[in-house]
Amino acid sequence: MGELSRLDLRLGEWLWFWFWLWFWFWLWFWLWLLLRALLVAAMSNNQIPALMEGSRSFGAPDLLRIKQLEEQASALRNSVICAFNQLLDLKDLNTGVHSTRLAEWGMRVGQELGLEEAELQNLEVAALLHDIGKVGIPDAILRKPERLDPEEYALMKRHSEYGWAVLRMLPGFERAALDILHHHESFDGKGYPAGLKDTEIPVVSRIVCVIDAFDAMVSSRPYRKGLPYEEAVRRLTEASGTQFDPVVVRTFLSFAQAEMSTVFAAAGTSVSSAL
Ligand SMILES: [Fe+2]
Repeated sequence: MGELSRLDLRLGEWLWFWFWLWFWFWLWFWLWLLLRALLVAAMSNNQIPALMEGSRSFGAPDLLRIKQLEEQASALRNSVICAFNQLLDLKDLNTGVHSTRLAEWGMRVGQELGLEEAELQNLEVAALLHDIGKVGIPDAILRKPERLDPEEYALMKRHSEYGWAVLRMLPGFERAALDILHHHESFDGKGYPAGLKDTEIPVVSRIVCVIDAFDAMVSSRPYRKGLPYEEAVRRLTEASGTQFDPVVVRTFLSFAQAEMSTVFAAAGTSVSSAL
């Protein structure tokens, strides 16, 4: 009798176990079906458009509209760059020519270094507008022919921050604004404003830094004559690895000499006399 009741008890436990297993299985199964139905209903009502985007196929009118919007965005970007360039021209006529030259050289270096399209676009903006912050520097300092005193130099150094502060406000220019912020960093970490070094400095900033310095060396100013090409190359090479990224310097110098006739013509000097 005792053996029989223990057997009944074990049988009852097994039945109870299988009942709970069956119960939980069906409960989760129906809950899953309900959740799936709710999700599909929400997606078909466009309440979760982001989830639909991946699987959506665009028709011809959609593609045309997208192309139009892309063209409008590109035209707006170019207009902003032109407007700021005009502002630079108003402040100092030489700066506009200087920036355009920098953009051409910068794009060339960027392409040789294999930068992606988005980075090249930022490079173009950074090269064209790297000194936009100088608009906030007093003319007495900008045009001072003598050496700046420490206080004036400290103020002049703020121009990269000023440029960043203005450009970062424009949608689509945020990355270029950061590149501009760091265009006076030095490869050995002794530059400004953040004292970044080596690859901590954005590649676009490293490129702008080299070509900006070189262009400043060879360009004539009302108060001084531009350096001869060979001397500018010597100074650039000497500071390669300390002030400048050596890879960028090497890449730039690989094509620089062939470009010099245009530069010296723009600077009002003949190539032969400069060389
Ligand atoms: Fe600058």
